[in-house]
Amino acid sequence: MEMTIRPRRLRTTAKLRKMVRETRMDKSSLVYPIFVREGENIKEEIPTMPGQYRWSLDRLPEILYETADAGVGSVMLFGIPDHKDEAGSQAYACDGIIQRAMEKAKKEVPGLFYIGDVCMCEYTSHGHCGILKGEYVDNDLTLEKLAQIAVSQVQAGADMVAPSDMMDGHIQAIREALDKNGFVTTPIMSYAVKYASAFYGPFRDAAGSAPAFGDRKSYQMDYHNRREGMKEALLDIEEGADLIMVKPAMSYLDMVREIKDATDVPMAAYSVSGEYAMVKAGAKLGYVDEASILCEMAACAYRAGVDVYMTYFAKELAYFMDEGRIG
Ligand code: PBG
Repeated sequence: MEMTIRPRRLRTTAKLRKMVRETRMDKSSLVYPIFVREGENIKEEIPTMPGQYRWSLDRLPEILYETADAGVGSVMLFGIPDHKDEAGSQAYACDGIIQRAMEKAKKEVPGLFYIGDVCMCEYTSHGHCGILKGEYVDNDLTLEKLAQIAVSQVQAGADMVAPSDMMDGHIQAIREALDKNGFVTTPIMSYAVKYASAFYGPFRDAAGSAPAFGDRKSYQMDYHNRREGMKEALLDIEEGADLIMVKPAMSYLDMVREIKDATDVPMAAYSVSGEYAMVKAGAKLGYVDEASILCEMAACAYRAGVDVYMTYFAKELAYFMDEGRIG
């Protein structure tokens, strides 16, 4: 049979396949999420996220050094306070758990890039991402708090803030507050395209942040919607977002590609707790191969257009990139 074009030619050997590979990854684009809690000498495994821990402040440097040594570029810190109240006051207290963690982390392991998650659900007694009026999260009251949280995290040393609250106007409110406090060069990575997702289940166990009543559907997006995701991304860019995040990652990569093509900001995606938990559970049962699956999930996210990839597998990925297994 006469054939001039044989796509298999380029797949003949490993060397050639690597030479013509379309997606390249780099460890500096990985972000590792870390949970910090009150208390002393605590490294507590999260039951639904085997291999992930809640760290007390004094032991936080252990995991930071490990992450830095692996070559992962950045970490995102999540605080779990002992005391939660209606107004989420520990989220913006200058001696709150997240502020102390930022300060300590920056001082002890300055080589990493530190991102603060700006939200209220880990800090409110009702578990919602803002200030309640009745059973509804009041948008504009919440904005004032978010601005305070962002400023307090940057004052404590955060290199970048990442608002995950899904309030309208949040980027503008945070940008104005940061600028007013002299932080004009601190970038904002907006969780602009964040869906109301069951994939966050294990995170809520980890942070004790499941809503006490109702759900998050009046602020996080309906997963049937594509154009609404674009609208959120464009709005946040207009308000001053420097990077745009899509969350979750695996089932939402169409949004990554679409927004990447339509905008000129770096794209991030967050491979969330439920994605991690499914891989761990499947691997434990022997149904899937953990290393192969986590590499494939990452490479596909980058192929979709991700520039910055947040994942609980960041250290493993860094190792596999070093080994040349992916990247
Ligand atoms: C805070 C926040 C959540 C996650 C990141 N920031 C939880 C939520 O929105 O319920 C989820 C991350 C994960 O599942 O790994 N709002």
